[in-house]
Amino acid sequence: MRVTLDHVTKRFGDFTAVNDFSAVLEDGQLACLLGPSGCGKSTLLNMLSGILPVTEGKVLFDQDDVTSLPPEKRGVGLVFQNYALYPHMTVLDNICFPLETQHVDKKERVERANEIAKLVHVDMLMKRRPAELSGGQQQRVAIARALVKNPRLLLLDEPLSNLDARLRLEMREEIRRIQQRTGVTTVFVTHDQEEAMSISDKIVLMKSGVLQQNDVPQTLYHQPVNQFVADFLGNPPINNLPGVIRGGAFLADGADTPVVLPMLEGVAEGREVNLSVRSESFMLDDHGPIACTVESVYQMGKEEMAYLTLGACAFRAYIDADEGLQKGQHIRLGLKKRGVFLFDRETGERIR
Ligand SMILES: Nc1ncnc2c1ncn2[C@@H]1O[C@H](COP(=O)(O)OP(=O)(O)O)[C@@H](O)[C@H]1O
Ligand SMILES: [Mg+2]
Repeated sequence: MRVTLDHVTKRFGDFTAVNDFSAVLEDGQLACLLGPSGCGKSTLLNMLSGILPVTEGKVLFDQDDVTSLPPEKRGVGLVFQNYALYPHMTVLDNICFPLETQHVDKKERVERANEIAKLVHVDMLMKRRPAELSGGQQQRVAIARALVKNPRLLLLDEPLSNLDARLRLEMREEIRRIQQRTGVTTVFVTHDQEEAMSISDKIVLMKSGVLQQNDVPQTLYHQPVNQFVADFLGNPPINNLPGVIRGGAFLADGADTPVVLPMLEGVAEGREVNLSVRSESFMLDDHGPIACTVESVYQMGKEEMAYLTLGACAFRAYIDADEGLQKGQHIRLGLKKRGVFLFDRETGERIR
């Protein structure tokens, strides 16, 4: 099922939590709703489920306007960060519960619950109670319970936040597998960009209630529409070298030698910009445009992470370990085609 958010706004009093938000989530895809804490992700998800009414705008499921439909009529499955299982019930009864409220007969309930339990790999735990399960197992049961009614839309709100790091990795792959197996359109809320990069068909990145970019993960990484998107994705974070355009070249703050780059052509003289470069987008080049100093070097497998300075700007670059860079060395770097951007320092607008 395709989901359309059409100019959706949510206000709490005079505070706008979600502002004029429009996006289409494609049928059968997993979309990650990504953004910092407090940016409005849960609010948006709750407007999809119907738990929260919208202030303005429309929500469409395929062609149907569901804006004023209550949650129980929307056919959505929900999973939250805290598993919210019924503690006194067995796993089987927890998974069956949504069917019971729909008056599905007992035999069919148990059949359906067993089928979903197998898919989610909790079929050997059916007689246990939540207190007898690990966090990961509880979250699997919560997912099974959300899927048992064959929802048209699966909504997951930071479902892995309570799990330890190793389990998070395992469960994110599990969620991807289950989603692909069932083909259910899924919205997965997270503030963790690595999580989003690894499991999404599309990433919907938001900031302060406003949509920034909605696209495949690689496009957000390689073609960010603004500074916020470039900063939010990637580990290590993108390097931002603040400076100004002088004589058609980039003069980094505190530096005396300008950096001449073809990409700067046509950028207004005196404009204050960030030259933003991913750590993997530098290369050693004796004739390269960036003259900088090695502050320190850390071994990272076959590559080294070099900490460098250009004027008052510090940045990080991956360099082949065979180069044997030394602290204090003066080197020149060139830039690769990918992962090099120019942003307006004031507005964050992408210039190049
Ligand atoms: N019921 C509410 N009343 C007032 N403000 C709210 C309410 N729910 C959320 N907010 C505010 O809306 C903003 C977005 O919240 P939320 O959607 O929970 O963010 P996220 O899930 O991205 O962390 C926050 O500033 C939050 O304080
Ligand atoms: Mg939230």
